[in-house]
Amino acid sequence: MGIRNNIIDEIKSRCNIVDVIGRHVLLKKSGSNYKGVCPFHNEKTPSFVVSDTKQIFTCFGCGATGDVIEFVQRYNNLDFLGALEKLCDEYGIEMKPSGYQTEQDRTALYEINREAATFFYRAFFNNPNPGYDYMKKRGFVPEVLRKFGIGYADDEWDSLYQYFIKKGTDLQILLKLGLISYSKGKYFDKYRNRIIFPIINTRRKVIGFGGRTLGDKEPKYLNSPESAIFQKKNNLYGLNLTRQDINKEKCVILVEGYMDVISLYQNGIRNVSASLGTALTENQAAMIKRYSDNVILAYDADEAGQTAALRGLDILHKAGCKAKVMHISDGKDPDDFIKENGKEEFLKLVSNAMSFADYKIYLLRQRLDLNTTEGRVEFLQETAKILGELSPVEADIYIKKIARETNISEGAIRLEINVNNNSENIKKYKKVSVQDTGNKYQSGRTDSGFGTMLEKNLIKLMLLNSSYVNMIKPYEWVFQSPSAFKIYDVIKSVYKLDEEIDVKKVEDSLETEDNKLLQDIMENIHLADKEEQVFQDCIKSIKEAVLAKREQEIIQLISILDDEKDRDKIDALTIELMKLQKGKIKDR
Ligand code: UTP
Ligand code: MN
Repeated sequence: MGIRNNIIDEIKSRCNIVDVIGRHVLLKKSGSNYKGVCPFHNEKTPSFVVSDTKQIFTCFGCGATGDVIEFVQRYNNLDFLGALEKLCDEYGIEMKPSGYQTEQDRTALYEINREAATFFYRAFFNNPNPGYDYMKKRGFVPEVLRKFGIGYADDEWDSLYQYFIKKGTDLQILLKLGLISYSKGKYFDKYRNRIIFPIINTRRKVIGFGGRTLGDKEPKYLNSPESAIFQKKNNLYGLNLTRQDINKEKCVILVEGYMDVISLYQNGIRNVSASLGTALTENQAAMIKRYSDNVILAYDADEAGQTAALRGLDILHKAGCKAKVMHISDGKDPDDFIKENGKEEFLKLVSNAMSFADYKIYLLRQRLDLNTTEGRVEFLQETAKILGELSPVEADIYIKKIARETNISEGAIRLEINVNNNSENIKKYKKVSVQDTGNKYQSGRTDSGFGTMLEKNLIKLMLLNSSYVNMIKPYEWVFQSPSAFKIYDVIKSVYKLDEEIDVKKVEDSLETEDNKLLQDIMENIHLADKEEQVFQDCIKSIKEAVLAKREQEIIQLISILDDEKDRDKIDALTIELMKLQKGKIKDR
């Protein structure tokens, strides 16, 4: 009871046995398999084999064998369910079935939603009502409203409820779909005195509703709750009607609201859709991309809209879309704008839309004062990050443009981008991890903030072999996380020449917080008899990080110094930079 029936298949397809076991056992590639020391019996020479192709483990010493679930069971002393739970947890797999599962059950829900939509639609079109008047006053024409299936929920408290009662519909389902609610012994309609926007997916199923109040009731828009058939993050409003147009135009205009979609549609801009009020999600981006990878965000001009646009840009960019943002003048939304200014003016805004990079750089220039040194340094750094996301050809266009507009040299911008891109060292400096010597010492998990991999590796080295204490001393400034610094300090104070570090003593001198890091290091940092190599790697990454940091500083300085006045300084820095970069090439 309680777990999905295909869960085992999903676990097996998502949790690679080599990764799972590799977290606990040092595995070395050996032919098409991996080999390590068996965790289930005592042995010196490795006879524990993990097969990537077969996704099983076998120990030729003790005979232990099985699949990934079996391994987790044995290694962690868990029963079958416990092992499933652990793997699901670690890999973010949903274990429980999510409400209605069978297609048959869902069909019933779609059907009820369709009946409700029809009920609201009739109320809107068949007799005079405040909903119709409202939409007419806002300039919407019946022909378009019919297309979108717009409806009206009247002001009675149980019209829809009575309608469904007469049909003998299951009340539980009506509650789940958010069409009715229950309070103080009474059932009543959820949507009252609202314009109804049915949300219809591309398979023409009514999956939910949005209802706009006609009075001043909160919320302004009441949306269906998440259900077995309605997940906001997986759907877009209007696509059922507009996807062919989106396909044809090879472009989609994404807006915030229901009204915006209908309004643009009515004004002849039909390649439009809305993200159901929430910030755009990855799933929605993937969905859009099926119809067009040119996306123009036409969000409201207010701050919330602009923030949403910025996040939307990132998500679309990651999804592989060419995203642009259009700015709607005079603080309006697309609906207001097109009603006031018409289609042609709106299309002008569309053609002026700013690309991903343009928009981000535009915001930077608004925020930063390029007349100050700090402003220029930050601008250079941030711009380089943005351009680093682009293809070299695209980036090149921007580099020229920015150089022209800001008087920061093209070379400086290029170098800054290279520093970001090539030298992973800068990142290492903040979160140094030692992994690249063929073997993995680590599971790859880094607890940033709590102690970097570099700090942890160095501490482990000293604990394993006290002769490292003196070797690490010249680099002691790398202990920057508070806990790591304290542990290092204690190690230094208990250290005696030619004696190993007494771990117990270290523990006793530490506060609880710092002890947590020590425990983590004791349990999770495995150097696998490679102390010297790990030490060399650590020192190498520290040195690289120092050089990379200096390189970045020089580049920044050169870019902001005055060509005329600071000639000498620039020359000296350039020479230093050349030396640094020469050294880097030699090292490769
Ligand atoms: P807006 O407040 O901008 O409304 O919300 P609107 O679309 O311009 O509507 P009108 O012109 O005032 O009638 C934008 C979108 O955010 C979602 C809806 O999808 C809405 O269309 N929203 C807004 C909600 O889901 N709930 C709310 O309470 C408000
Ligand atoms: Mn509006």
